[in-house]
Amino acid sequence: MNERLFIFDTTLRDGEQVPGCQLNTVEKIQVAKQLEALGVDVIEAGFPVSSPGDFRSVVEISKAVTWPTICALTRAVQRDIDVAVEALQYAKHKRIHTGIGTSESHIKYKFNATREEIIERAVAAVKYAKRYCEDVEFYAEDAGRTDNEYLARVIEAVVKAGATVCNIPDTTGYCLPSEFGAKIKYLMEHVDGLSNGQCILSTHCHNDLGMATANTMAGVLAGARQVEVTINGIGERAGNTSLEEIAMILKCHRGIGIDTNINTQKIYSTSRLVSSLMNMPIQPNKAIVGRNAFAHSSGIHQDGVLKNAQTYEIMSPKDVGIDENSILLTARSGRAALKHRLQVLGMDMTDEVLDKTYEAFLHLADQKKEITDDDILMLAGADRTAAHAIQLDYLQVTTGMGVRSVAAIGLNISGEKFEASASGNGPVDAAIKALKVIIRRQMTLKEFTIQAISKGSDDVGKVHMQVEYDGHLYYGFGANTDIVTASVEAYIDCINKFKK
Ligand code: KIV
Ligand code: ZN
Repeated sequence: MNERLFIFDTTLRDGEQVPGCQLNTVEKIQVAKQLEALGVDVIEAGFPVSSPGDFRSVVEISKAVTWPTICALTRAVQRDIDVAVEALQYAKHKRIHTGIGTSESHIKYKFNATREEIIERAVAAVKYAKRYCEDVEFYAEDAGRTDNEYLARVIEAVVKAGATVCNIPDTTGYCLPSEFGAKIKYLMEHVDGLSNGQCILSTHCHNDLGMATANTMAGVLAGARQVEVTINGIGERAGNTSLEEIAMILKCHRGIGIDTNINTQKIYSTSRLVSSLMNMPIQPNKAIVGRNAFAHSSGIHQDGVLKNAQTYEIMSPKDVGIDENSILLTARSGRAALKHRLQVLGMDMTDEVLDKTYEAFLHLADQKKEITDDDILMLAGADRTAAHAIQLDYLQVTTGMGVRSVAAIGLNISGEKFEASASGNGPVDAAIKALKVIIRRQMTLKEFTIQAISKGSDDVGKVHMQVEYDGHLYYGFGANTDIVTASVEAYIDCINKFKK
């Protein structure tokens, strides 16, 4: 019989640390429910002591989700553990994830401590967490750069203290796959309580050198039985190991003899949901879920795939839930068809929100022939900005070659109407200058990315922006078939996030 690999999803904790991609509690619950449907074993729901928002999310996700274990992160600090225990009170299955840095630089510069003191603190934290929760996972932060002999001492001590899972993070994404695999193998061979299954090892690999998935697989092949991953590989800097890559590697390489509980046909919808809620585009060539992941463009490939898909495809798009024959929504599609597609994409909404989304859908369907899944998710997300203080009322821009662009703008700020106009070096410049006539703040546009959602000149364009204000960077997003409007919406989204 095949062995079982546990999937620990940290999209809502490590993944959510990406600046500008924070979700509110309702959105987190939506993602958590989709993760449950996908079949993950553990959902890391947050770091409760870090903020009231994180605390609330752990509480609400614990109530909303039934069978996956809900995990809360802590430092090796009693107060963190107390707060995590409180946040997890409604979880049907709960886990505390506590830990401390073990590399030389963490011990010296972060903790100004000795190696022995770190072991004492690690053991004390695990014992303390164990008083309240049977399932305790320990992380040795920066284990990737911790020497194996000392790491084995730390892990042995926390296993004796009762840890049920030990997480070996490559926090900086530094390790080579051979090195990381050897580290897991060393621990498996030198730490009592691992080979008999009393405690399992977990990987947690960051992608700074593009090796997160390779390192995770090296860890699994060396004996790790849990992997910490995120949807679309999101996460700070270059991100974390992506869930879909590990799940599909194990599905394609049956010979490895390891199974997960992932329902791979829900990968695509989960990926789109997370990308849409976090306003985080997926690179087109991203393995498994990128727009081009199954697109064969060379003539030789197309010819081969048409004769027999196996010639150039190691997996079918259907395996990950991409149904090329799915019914396309158009202006003639009914409310029920929209509701069904939203549910497939992991969006459950009240009848009231569905009515509003359907209205916006019909409006968009008048502008473009076929409505894609990305369009639908974008429309569903529009409701999230409905409560913002500053709303774009109208925008009119005159532009062309050889003339200076002129923009007139109308804003609704908490119910009060404002109008302004300005000229600029192009339509976006003119529109933003007009906006700044009304919103008189010292703000600077730092980054501006335009991305077409799929294809066609009638497509909805997505704009991501970063605006600097008062020493902070704010991230904003806008989507519209008119790219200048999308740009202004993204700028307004940034302003709506300013700390007053
Ligand atoms: O990367 C890391 O080391 C972490 C730990 C907090 C588990 O995210
Ligand atoms: Zn991490």
